[in-house]
Amino acid sequence: MGSSQKIKLAPSILSADFGRLGEQVAEATKAGADYIHIDVMDGHFVPQITVGALVVTAIRKWTKLPLDVHLMIEEPEQQISQFIDAGADIITCHIEACPDIHRVVHRAKKAGIKAGVALNPGTPIDTLAEVLPYLDLVLVLTVNPGFGGQTFIEAMLDKVAHLRAELDRKNLATELAVDGGINANVAPRVVRAGARVLAAGSAVFNSEQTISEALGKIRSSLEVAF
Ligand code: DX5
Ligand code: ZN
Repeated sequence: MGSSQKIKLAPSILSADFGRLGEQVAEATKAGADYIHIDVMDGHFVPQITVGALVVTAIRKWTKLPLDVHLMIEEPEQQISQFIDAGADIITCHIEACPDIHRVVHRAKKAGIKAGVALNPGTPIDTLAEVLPYLDLVLVLTVNPGFGGQTFIEAMLDKVAHLRAELDRKNLATELAVDGGINANVAPRVVRAGARVLAAGSAVFNSEQTISEALGKIRSSLEVAF
């Protein structure tokens, strides 16, 4: 490592203005985002209902960036094909919602897209042991999933560091992503702990600054990470 350029920023549209979603995605793309993070919630795995595959199809037309679809839903194996057809490039399922994680991962890879697994803050990284070698991405939730704008859970720094050590020890190129409460204050610390993809919602889409300014602020905070 050495350069902040290697860190990927994944604006989460959960905090975007849904009335102007396409424009906001295009703006984030122009501002140098690396992925567009789409939070799918089903009202069961988490209390809120957000968007489904139709919205992924709609967003697909506004950006060429990889669409990073975070499924916070029960039984993701029933839904994954819809999201693949809609144009997802990365599909991340929660290990807590998916006892048959190998099947889901295999389905994504067979379709030629990337497979990720997400862990809630209370879920130990050991639960990934058997599936880790097959994953393109691990998403460490740094808040309890369900809502934007929550405060980063400090104890997740250790979890990220342990997972980083595990990936390095096994020589795996799996991307280590974090999601929840990420802003310019937290970003350098999670990166120092080993995160390489930062999903951020409220720190990117807010009324205080443009998307470009917000991404710039996170990027420059990373200059001191190494
Ligand atoms: C949390 C979602 C996040 C959310 C993050 O349930 O998975 O992607 O949008 O929002 P912030 O960055 O505001 O915590
Ligand atoms: Zn998310």
